[in-house]
This record gives sequence, C-alpha cells and structure tokens, in this order.
Amino acid sequence: MRTQVVIVGGGPSGLLLGQLLHLKGIEAIVLERKTRDYVLARIRAGILETGLVDLMREAGVSERMDKECFVHSGTSISYENELFSIDFEKLIGRNVIVYGQTEVTRDLYDAREVAGAKTIFEADGVSIHDADTDAPYVTYLKDGKEHRIDCDFVAGCDGFHGVSRQTIPDTVRKDYEKVFPFGWLGILSETPPVHDELIYANSTRGFALCSMRNENLSRYYVQCDLSDKAEDWSDDAFWDELKRRLPEDIAEKLVTGSSIEKSIAPLRSFVSEPMRWGRLFLCGDAAHIVPPTGAKGLNTAASDVQYLYHALTGFYLDKDSRGLDTYSEKALARVWKAERFSWATTNLLHRFPDQSEFDLKMQRAEIESLHFNETAQRWFAENYVGLPY
Ligand code: PHB
Repeated sequence: MRTQVVIVGGGPSGLLLGQLLHLKGIEAIVLERKTRDYVLARIRAGILETGLVDLMREAGVSERMDKECFVHSGTSISYENELFSIDFEKLIGRNVIVYGQTEVTRDLYDAREVAGAKTIFEADGVSIHDADTDAPYVTYLKDGKEHRIDCDFVAGCDGFHGVSRQTIPDTVRKDYEKVFPFGWLGILSETPPVHDELIYANSTRGFALCSMRNENLSRYYVQCDLSDKAEDWSDDAFWDELKRRLPEDIAEKLVTGSSIEKSIAPLRSFVSEPMRWGRLFLCGDAAHIVPPTGAKGLNTAASDVQYLYHALTGFYLDKDSRGLDTYSEKALARVWKAERFSWATTNLLHRFPDQSEFDLKMQRAEIESLHFNETAQRWFAENYVGLPY
C-alpha cells in the first residue's frame, strides 16, 4: 500500500488530523492497535478550549458538539468553606466548552466513515522504518500477516505508550519528567452536576474535582494514594470522601448514585524533545503528558495537530516546507506553557506527602491571591481557556 501520511494511533488527535487533511485532499491511513469500541470506552476529560472547538468546526465535525455542549464562562475554586469563581468571560471575554473527549472521538470516527477514509483497527506490532530518510514506511501485523505502507510522512499520535516516540533514537531524544506522588480516583455517575461550574477543591484531606458531561451525567474525582485500587473504593466511601473535601453547602446539595465507571489515574508531567525526527512528527501524548488538573491533555494535543496540519498543507499545497521545519520548535513552545500551567495548578490544589507548614501557608497565600487579585485571575483565565496557537 502507499499513502501520503500514515497516522499511527486512532485517538482524537490522529482522527482530527486525518479529517483535516482529508478535507484538503491529502490522503492518510490511520492505524489503531485496538478496536473502535475499545477506543470509545475510554473515559477522558471533558473541557475543550476554543482552539480545539474551532478545529472541530474546520474539520466539519462540530454539529453534535455545537448542539449538546455546555458553554462555561468561568470555573470555581474552593478551599475549606470558601468558594469563588474565576469569570473568564468578564476577565478576558472568552470561555470553554464541556463536551467529553469520548464524544469528540465518536464524532471523528463517524465523519471518517462517511468520508470513506481508511482506518485499520487491531493493527499489531506497528513499526516505523526509515523515518530519517525521504522514503519512510510503516509495517504492522493484521490477521497474522505482515503489511507495509509506504508514505511521505508519519504522524505519531499513538499516546504515551506508543511506538512513535520510541522510534526516535535515544541519542537524539531527551525526556523530561516529573511524577506526582498521588493519583486521581474518578467516577462517572448518572446524577445531576452539583454546581453549574466545575469546582476545583483544595482541602486538608486533599484535592477534589466536580465536573460533568451533561445535565444527568457527572464526573467527580478525589486525590488518592498511588497504592489505592479502584475496586477497593466502594461508591459510598467515594461520596463520603468527596463531600468531606467540598464546602458544606455544596456537599449538602450533592446528589449521589451508583457509579457507572470508576478508575484511578496517576499524575505525571512529561515532555520529550524534539517532536520531529526526519519525516516522523509526534502529536499529543506521544510526546507529552500533563497532570489533568488544568484540563490541558487533549487541548495540547489539538494545538500540535493544528501546527502539523498547517505544516503538511503548506508542503503539499504550497510547496513550502517551512512549517515542517519549525514544527517541533513551535509545538514545544506551547507545550511547555501548558506544562507549566498544569504543574502550577497541581501544586496549588493538592496535598503532598512531604508538605511542610510553610508550604501549606504558601499554597494558601496563592489561592487567596487567585480569590482576590484580578491580575492573578486573569493569568489563570488566559491559561485555562487556552493560550493562542
Ligand atoms: C473531566 O471532566 O473529566 C475533567 C475536567 C477538568 C479537569 C480534568 C478532568 O481539569
């Protein structure tokens, strides 16, 4: 087989890139290790920056999102019994939308099917060859047979555990990492959200987050130990712990119910440089991970996709390879800013095992400055709604 771009990974970033390229007449094949149903069963975050919303519109896949999403013009933060809102709309005239990553992925798969674009599921043992030459190719196993696709470019959208990053030699690559000493236990429940905005809660018992998907579907998280197992947390234990971390009036309003999903995610910051090696370009989690506190995971993948999409259309449509040459530098400049915001919000809101009383006072002073200082709020708002591409 031959195509112009092989996209390794059928998650939201690979699919979005594929759809955008398709509309420009650039052919791509998506290789996905799992099945479509498996990919669509993964529950991920649900806050979309306007940059991603605009890309979904450009890709012609925004119809359901525009109908079903919630527009959030601010977000709430609590500490002990205090609750305050950071009003994005008032501070900077912008907002975010609530629409699950799973739904984004579903809409992109549907569009891909309508477009008749090729996706190969259950492609095992994907291997990227000769990426540092002008004739790269990708091999994979399917139904017990080895297949080969020759291409012009490879987009590595296969996540943190994928092969794309590993294809870049150690001598070229440098990884930067910070692992946080706790995880998030999350549940999804068919209950109405407790508040009209998300609530990011700092409490003496640790962090909690109240999020949502729609008027009868809520997503809640509590900071937990890395050694905890989701199956050891009963629903009752979860709700009790969540309530103890929220302001009393919010806790009283919380509607509880049985969970329909419960899982633990570790928190990690990670960046691998460079994001390009020859004709291989990394996008999203393949190159970088953020802790979920700033809701930046999918949104940062989307800015990579936007840069790569422009670089590839520049190459194919305008015979201009400057976008490809500056891709890594440009993408990384924005990635590091998202890393900083995610790291800062994680530090601001969690309890750390080795935190001294001084550290706690610093945390408290920082939260109070967000509560009462408009300049601090504006910084938060600009980062949360998304820095420009
Ligand atoms: C979620 O809804 O799952 C969510 C929202 C905001 C975050 C993280 C996760 O910062």
